[in-house]
Amino acid sequence: MLVRHADPARDAAACVAIYAPYVTGSSVSFEEDPPTAERFAAHIAATSERYPWLVLEAAGAVVGYAYATQHRARAAYRWAVDVGIYVDPSRHRAGAGRMLYEALLGLLRRQRLHSACAGITLPNEASIGLHRALGFEHVGTYRSIGWKAGGWRDVSWWQLRLAPDGGGADAPPPEPLGPQRL
Ligand SMILES: CC(C)(COP(=O)(O)OP(=O)(O)OC[C@H]1O[C@@H](n2cnc3c(N)ncnc32)[C@H](O)[C@@H]1OP(=O)(O)O)[C@@H](O)C(=O)NCCC(=O)NCCS
Repeated sequence: MLVRHADPARDAAACVAIYAPYVTGSSVSFEEDPPTAERFAAHIAATSERYPWLVLEAAGAVVGYAYATQHRARAAYRWAVDVGIYVDPSRHRAGAGRMLYEALLGLLRRQRLHSACAGITLPNEASIGLHRALGFEHVGTYRSIGWKAGGWRDVSWWQLRLAPDGGGADAPPPEPLGPQRL
């Protein structure tokens, strides 16, 4: 298995094929209509201008992907990102998620980012297990924050400190860097 940077034109359709069932058949994603490959390619390209979008390839096929996006737009949040990950169900529990996240988190550290955040619609034992295994801590749960698949859904939020706190008024953290290469 090989982790590499996504190529928007080449990988969008495979990423959509993995993602779409979680849009139409579950509340894992809060989107309601699966994106087209064209729209997803644009989304991958725009994301990759600032953050990593990685795919995991096995025997020449994309079997999972992980990415980071801006957490919030206000300036003080610029060291924080949200992360997301999807693995083809035929490959679950075989180490794909861990491989993707270890590569992604390494790149985020090299970008000098401080926090990775993940919002997990409940229930999702696999996602909670993965985030806990990678060192994320539970910080709280929004109750009934979204309506999806016929019901109100809770979203559990998890945070990983990518670097120790530190600094101070006279020693602000170094500015984040642009996207890094594997
Ligand atoms: C969550 C997801 C990405 C995990 O990917 P994966 O490739 O199956 O995970 P891994 O095999 O690398 O597992 C790594 C660790 O995560 C934890 N984990 C993974 N699946 C788990 C499960 N079903 N239950 C409990 N813990 C689990 C375990 O600690 C595991 O380590 P171990 O196998 O040595 O015990 C995958 O289940 C998935 O794509 N789910 C659907 C999409 C989704 O929910 N994405 C996250 C949205 S917030």
